[in-house]
Amino acid sequence: MESYKIHLSEQEMPQEWYNLLPDLPAPLPPYLHPGTGEPIGPQDLAAIFPMELIQQEVSPERWIPIPDEVRRIYRLWRPSPLHRARNLEAALGTPARIYYKNESVSPAGSHKPNTAVAQAYYNKAAGIKRLATETGAGQWGSALALACNLFGLECTVYMVKVSYQQKPYRRSLMHIWGASVYPSPTDRTQAGRQILARDPETPGSLGMAISEAVEDAACHADTNYSLGSVLNHVLLHQTIVGLETKKQLALAGEEPDILIGCVGGGSNFAGFCFPFVRGKLQGKDRRFIAVEPTACPTLTKGTYTYDFGDTAGLTPLIMMYTLGHSFVPSGIHAGGLRYHGDAPLLCLLVHEKVIEARAYPQNPVFEAARLFAETEGIIPAPETAHAIKAAVDEARLCKETNRPKCIVLNFSGHGHFDLAAYDAYLEGQLQDIELDPDAMIQKALTELPKLPGK
Ligand SMILES: Cc1ncc(COP(=O)(O)O)c(C=O)c1O
Repeated sequence: MESYKIHLSEQEMPQEWYNLLPDLPAPLPPYLHPGTGEPIGPQDLAAIFPMELIQQEVSPERWIPIPDEVRRIYRLWRPSPLHRARNLEAALGTPARIYYKNESVSPAGSHKPNTAVAQAYYNKAAGIKRLATETGAGQWGSALALACNLFGLECTVYMVKVSYQQKPYRRSLMHIWGASVYPSPTDRTQAGRQILARDPETPGSLGMAISEAVEDAACHADTNYSLGSVLNHVLLHQTIVGLETKKQLALAGEEPDILIGCVGGGSNFAGFCFPFVRGKLQGKDRRFIAVEPTACPTLTKGTYTYDFGDTAGLTPLIMMYTLGHSFVPSGIHAGGLRYHGDAPLLCLLVHEKVIEARAYPQNPVFEAARLFAETEGIIPAPETAHAIKAAVDEARLCKETNRPKCIVLNFSGHGHFDLAAYDAYLEGQLQDIELDPDAMIQKALTELPKLPGK
């Protein structure tokens, strides 16, 4: 009998996260203090992060044990299944074998709880009472609300205004799990008030919401900040996804040729791919494709340089592909992909040409999502649909060239709270807005920070 899903038992769940830092092909440029231009030390981050997470950020250890309590909570939904997309393969008539790792089975519906649970655990252990964070589409906010609820922490979420309006049900999830949610920019923080004074009608952006959450945490001793993507420790926690996938592919007797994920800040892509990147760096022939929207083309059109992680310039300077921290992407429905920068680890690998990047407009992405829903049944999150579009294109190429490749994608989340976006697509109302990103990017790049003394 042909199998459709490959499961691991709870006992087979990985016991350690994989840290790519010691295996990088080139050194990772350090975070810099914007005032001095010097690398920052652990104490510079201690006002907003617990020391365990700061240590994970720079750890030279390849394997980091997952605490028992985190593994216990992971078992509520992990290990997640790896599916063989046989119906999609048949509809495409491709000789390719397509697999997808289904992270939509978590209680919040995406990969985000993998790090939310770990971050809540380390903050609770450090005696913190409340976490402040930003959220785009609400996936991260709902994941952190869930995790805080499980650990008895308070949770404050600054939600990008356009998503707050477009996605009311994710707000409901956060409320059910006990979080307070505000449409960002708000008048609760100095950063928010300054942004509103400049542009009262702004749709908001992840960069703005990050400024607000960082400020909230920095101004309250019992509160820490929690980031849902970008930083090394977040990517580390997500490697549980790739480590499980590796075991599952081995059970299926497969070696992946192409691994695909969508990229907002880079956490699901990295968590899924990094355990396989190690093999490529050791000589295995495989490709990695990072997919982003043309409305926010960080990896494909950004500049590799130091920039702030937020709009107001409160974070350290990070070496990454960036569209400029003042870049405000248009209000596309893949809200989780609207970030001006990307994870420094991922950016380094793109710069070193270990990982490829490509960008798609909304309509072809939703077309691929519809084909996936028609054949495999699950409705993908608009973010996830970017990865599906690339997998469909690669599978079609396999058909043209008659090459039976093994394509594996990360199904980062379901779209059950994104149905308004699907309605808009079905009614032909989705615009492939690119708002001439080139002109917007050029303008934002003129506002990049100048390094002291350079
Ligand atoms: C379902 C889903 N996939 C992907 C992303 C992009 O984030 P990241 O690149 O950190 O995985 C998000 C962000 O909110 C998301 O909700």
